[in-house]
Amino acid sequence: MKRYIAAANWKMNKNVPESLEFTRQLTKYLLNIRRTDVILCPPFTSLFNIGEILNKTDIYLGAQNLHQADSGAFTGEISADMLKSAHCKYVILGHSERRHIFKETDAVIHEKLLKALEYGLKPILCLGETLEQREQNKTLEVLKKQYDSAFNNVPESALNNCVIAYEPVWAIGTGVVATPDQAAEAHREIRKLVATQYTDSAANNMRILYGGSVKPGNADELIATDDIDGFLIGGASLEVDSFGAIVQSVENFMEKQEK
Ligand code: 13P
Repeated sequence: MKRYIAAANWKMNKNVPESLEFTRQLTKYLLNIRRTDVILCPPFTSLFNIGEILNKTDIYLGAQNLHQADSGAFTGEISADMLKSAHCKYVILGHSERRHIFKETDAVIHEKLLKALEYGLKPILCLGETLEQREQNKTLEVLKKQYDSAFNNVPESALNNCVIAYEPVWAIGTGVVATPDQAAEAHREIRKLVATQYTDSAANNMRILYGGSVKPGNADELIATDDIDGFLIGGASLEVDSFGAIVQSVENFMEKQEK
């Protein structure tokens, strides 16, 4: 059975001491987690030190972005090679905050995805529509455009290393969570896009995460929803108790599936 994921996206939160304290507490909290891939995506400044702690655990380290060039005169940017050397295994790409605030285009996100794969980093590609696009019934069209551009010319052999996150922009940081039906529909459509471009088995193996106001109180219901294979968690990942509770929901669901 494919392993589900609980990934923490801290965004621009936690300085180095705060990151290390959280990580030390979390590793104790999650000692009994065996069925879930847990990923921490802290700010760049904390990556290396957290990585040194996580290397002794089953928890993975991820970054929140990278630059599409190998190296060079790109003041303020960070390369795939730097992330690898800081112990990263995953990298979030195309987050809506990158798309909307920093104006990243589909074309740039595609280049970043290829660069991540070239360096052996596993991309967590974020897709999602704005409220306006949903209200205009453009959700599926938007998801298709973002998906098609990102995965253009990506070989099927690379798909095992890719994760997709459906994050409706209107649900991010708003407390408004997608209903299980809304999430299931989007996830089903994304899986169809993978099946159409590749194969049914590639689509079934793809882990498609839901992100947007996931909390301990809604995690049980969402994780039991068809086609949801885990979560990308923002606000609720900033406290050990709430992130730990969400990880536990995923783990409990996986345990039930085994029986
Ligand atoms: P929230 O969980 O704070 O809504 O953020 C979701 C998100 O953007 C994760 O990448």
